[in-house]
Amino acid sequence: MAPVNSSSSDNSPARRILVTGGAGYIGSNTTLQLLDAGYEVVVADNLSRGHRAAVDPARLREVDLLDTEGLVRVMSEKPLDAVIHFAAYIAVGESMKTPETYFHNNTAGSLSLLTAMIRTGVRHVVFSSTAAVYGMPTTVPIPESEPYAPVNAYGESKVMVEKMLDWFDRIHGLRSVCLRYFNASGADPDCRAGESHDPETHLIPLIFRAVQTGTPVTLFGDDYPTPDGTCIRDYIHVSDLARAHIVAVESLVKGGASKKYNVGTGRGYSVREVLQAVEAVTGKPVPYQFGPRRDGDPPTLVADSTRLQSELGWKPVDSELTRIVETAWRWANRKA
Ligand SMILES: NC(=O)c1ccc[n+]([C@@H]2O[C@H](COP(=O)([O-])OP(=O)(O)OC[C@H]3O[C@@H](n4cnc5c(N)ncnc54)[C@H](O)[C@@H]3O)[C@@H](O)[C@H]2O)c1
Repeated sequence: MAPVNSSSSDNSPARRILVTGGAGYIGSNTTLQLLDAGYEVVVADNLSRGHRAAVDPARLREVDLLDTEGLVRVMSEKPLDAVIHFAAYIAVGESMKTPETYFHNNTAGSLSLLTAMIRTGVRHVVFSSTAAVYGMPTTVPIPESEPYAPVNAYGESKVMVEKMLDWFDRIHGLRSVCLRYFNASGADPDCRAGESHDPETHLIPLIFRAVQTGTPVTLFGDDYPTPDGTCIRDYIHVSDLARAHIVAVESLVKGGASKKYNVGTGRGYSVREVLQAVEAVTGKPVPYQFGPRRDGDPPTLVADSTRLQSELGWKPVDSELTRIVETAWRWANRKA
């Protein structure tokens, strides 16, 4: 179905995009890249977990995903070419204590967004999905054909949205690209945006905190069936992730079909390798201790993202581990 609500012709550089969750880590980085590339951007965020300072006030619409009428108002301001939907809660541990919060905010929130899109005639969405949809994968590197098998409520809240998107395409012609990110990391190379979660649950910022405060970081498990006993993850630089969103938007606007893609590098690093990279970049020792394994942590999560590379021409260019740590360290030491 052709877009009903569209601000630009195919070749116009001034596409108008609504970014939900644009006050958060990946959303703020992607917004900057969209602006650098000449897009017009409006951010919808309730600031529950994001940062007001991360968004130009003229661009920010303070609205909750669950407020369908509020979203309709924002979407009716001016025609939109697409929505990039980042807004969600992201803490796996929290999702296993209060799953209702995750199904409410992430799943029902996304349903509210899709409803507003249908009502306003916006028919393209890029959705932030996650490697957590796979749970404990049977094939590594993980292809997109690996079945859904989430082992936490956070992953399930995302699976449910991916499935809703399939139905919205079949019934309403709303086309989507689901990007299943592996471990988002790093910061804008010009230090304009980076990672600041509260509470922080991600490895690299937690290691930095240990370096800065001297309080040891607890690492979960050193008895995994991996070469050095620690978990292996696929770290993808946030700038590479941002570029994946731009190629995804372009494919949808140009008439491409709904798709699901992994976004990773295909190369994994162990927790110990990340520690070593931080020591090398910062020139400081990392105080750390090992705790027990965390429930539901697979030993190895590495993406097969050849589909995204071959179909949309994307490739990671900033995701070498030292580059990730360097950019993130600069962000962690920025002057406020
Ligand atoms: N960070 C990662 O490594 C990672 C990995 C896989 C997937 N993801 C997905 O990427 C997306 C962005 O992650 P992030 O790390 O930038 O998270 P973040 O917490 O930094 O940003 C999320 C933003 O969404 C906003 N938000 C949350 N609920 C909202 C609601 N109901 N209404 C309006 N705004 C709301 C928050 O205020 C925040 O600004 C999420 O959907 C997450 O599930 C992240």
